[in-house]
Amino acid sequence: MKLKTNICELLGIDYPIVLGGMGGAGTPALAAAVSKAGGLGVLGAADCGAVELRENIAEVRRLTDKPFGVNTLLPASVRRQARQADGERAPTLEERLAAHHKFAREFMEREGLCEPTVEQHEALQGLGRPHRKGHIPFTQEFFEEQMEVIVEERVPVYASGLGSPDRWMDRLHANGTKVMALIGNPTQAKRLVDSGLDVVIAQGSDAGGHNSGIGTLSLVPQVVDAVGGIPVLAAGGIADGRGVAAVLMLGAQGAWIGSAFLASHEANILDFQKQAIIEGTAESSTVSLSWTGKPARVLRSKWTEAWAAAELEPLPMPYQQMISWPVMAAALLAGRRDIVPGTAGQGIGLVREIRPAGEIVASLVTGAETALLVK
Ligand SMILES: Cc1cc2nc3c(=O)[nH]c(=O)nc-3n(C[C@H](O)[C@H](O)[C@H](O)COP(=O)(O)O)c2cc1C
Repeated sequence: MKLKTNICELLGIDYPIVLGGMGGAGTPALAAAVSKAGGLGVLGAADCGAVELRENIAEVRRLTDKPFGVNTLLPASVRRQARQADGERAPTLEERLAAHHKFAREFMEREGLCEPTVEQHEALQGLGRPHRKGHIPFTQEFFEEQMEVIVEERVPVYASGLGSPDRWMDRLHANGTKVMALIGNPTQAKRLVDSGLDVVIAQGSDAGGHNSGIGTLSLVPQVVDAVGGIPVLAAGGIADGRGVAAVLMLGAQGAWIGSAFLASHEANILDFQKQAIIEGTAESSTVSLSWTGKPARVLRSKWTEAWAAAELEPLPMPYQQMISWPVMAAALLAGRRDIVPGTAGQGIGLVREIRPAGEIVASLVTGAETALLVK
């Protein structure tokens, strides 16, 4: 196989195929399988607390000695946990969430879903990002603790989704960590590159997960032009070798791919959700604020449709998840594909079978080589 770009040398990998960070789904087994196959596996650690994150990094290192990355979120606008610094009382959940709680409760009653017990929440850990009782993820404190682990563990690659890793850049670089960030428009790309980013991930609106409104085909070449030679990975809608070849033609040095790897043996989603991927089409997803309060492309479901119809104002992080996760957890436990088919992008119409992740990497590479006539 001959598919190679400069980013392969920068990251120490064989092929310019990078597993997109996928919170919950992107376990050590999946990241290691992609790295072993010559791509760059990335741990989807968005919802991992510090202890679990450290264990997961150790597990990847146990499974492979190849380079790998870690992905977390660093959103700019997140509430602090208890009190504001000036002593002002933070609003109680009851005050902020009453209308949302009512909506979620009525939805669950209508659908015959039961509030999961603490034990059931624990059993689901890592799947569908359930909100565990007594544990409020996605606060500033949570993100900062994650970053301390990432610095201490000297991981080869760090990739932030949402927000900027600029505050951490010097410490990461001092360890030799290559720093990447997902961006959704050229202006944001330029701003982050000025803070010392090594690789820009230009993610178009076709992508599964948090999303901006610009399509991959328009976004990638404009970001390449904006960032003055900093390597760009393209993301969003790339699900076979033709997509990889196409983004190389647009000036990207590789592909950052999420949804296609959900249909792998190693992905940590439930079987009925893998089935939803391989049966999905270009029209199966929608951009919804119902999960985290920020626009995210997820598979259309009774939940996304009911939420849109209710016309509720989305809540800021982390409150929206505190509403949506118990519903998602209950639906996961009940095996309700009609409510929680999962998160995925528009490219899933190209994904028709569940395979080992290493095989997916190999077919992305050979497909791109065929499309580029380099074989
Ligand atoms: C199930 C799922 C979970 C995701 N979770 C995250 C996440 O935790 N952090 C992040 O930066 N991006 C996340 N993303 C976005 C991916 O990293 C990637 O940018 C996206 O999947 C690329 O588009 P594609 O799905 O069309 O391949 C997620 C995507 C999916 C499909």
